[in-house]
Amino acid sequence: MTERIEQTRAQLARHHRDGARFAQTMKQGFENRFNEAFWADWARLIEPVYSPQPVVLDLGAGPGLFLRALTQRTPGIRAIGVECAPYMLEAVDPLPAGAEIVNEDLHDPHLPLADGSADAALASVVLHEMHQPIRALLELRRCLKPGGRLLILDWARVPLDVYLRHQTEEARVFDPATPVQELEDLFVHFIEHNRFSREDLSYLLMHTGFSVIDTHLSREGRYARIVAERRP
Ligand SMILES: C[S@@+](CC[C@H](N)C(=O)[O-])C[C@H]1O[C@@H](n2cnc3c(N)ncnc32)[C@H](O)[C@@H]1O
Repeated sequence: MTERIEQTRAQLARHHRDGARFAQTMKQGFENRFNEAFWADWARLIEPVYSPQPVVLDLGAGPGLFLRALTQRTPGIRAIGVECAPYMLEAVDPLPAGAEIVNEDLHDPHLPLADGSADAALASVVLHEMHQPIRALLELRRCLKPGGRLLILDWARVPLDVYLRHQTEEARVFDPATPVQELEDLFVHFIEHNRFSREDLSYLLMHTGFSVIDTHLSREGRYARIVAERRP
């Protein structure tokens, strides 16, 4: 167990390149990503299933800003993040009452929640960072009430040329003078950001006890939004 979480931390540290800096980037970009359009979607697709004192999970909570925003938006909410990268946990500012972070590896999580006790969950740009999301989805299914909802936002698989076009100059990729380390970094990230298509995610959800109720692709197909409901 300890060995597994250390493997995950090493994998994440490599993927995030400079973890402390990436945590600050996540913080600085928060308002931009969790903007009016995000909250309109959240209100339309997720809040209708809230119970009077909602419990909401944030898988891969990063520096915890979504948890803070949830507590400001909905008094009385319990907002629980799951995170295991040390530099993300260190970047979390003191959380308000009602918010907490559990230090667990989502590759095989055991969350401190009773069966069927959560109303909703967010998985924002986290599933593509995982070797497999099966255990996380099964654990989420256990924690959510029947009809509870999950919002997934994540990078989706696209052809290499579409991916490269958004990362760098094409001429640089094919220039013999480009350092090999730069090419390796680019192509490793291509595999990691291209892990699942929208159809893959729907397939995984269907087999872990969810019904997909809404899907949407944006940014030339590179970004997916999926809403799924826990089946009874
Ligand atoms: C790209 S960041 C996104 C953070 C936040 N969800 C957001 O949208 O601002 C992905 C987060 O998921 C966490 N993460 C990835 N794999 C994880 C795992 N196996 N267990 C726990 N956390 C994980 C990373 O450490 C990172 O903080």
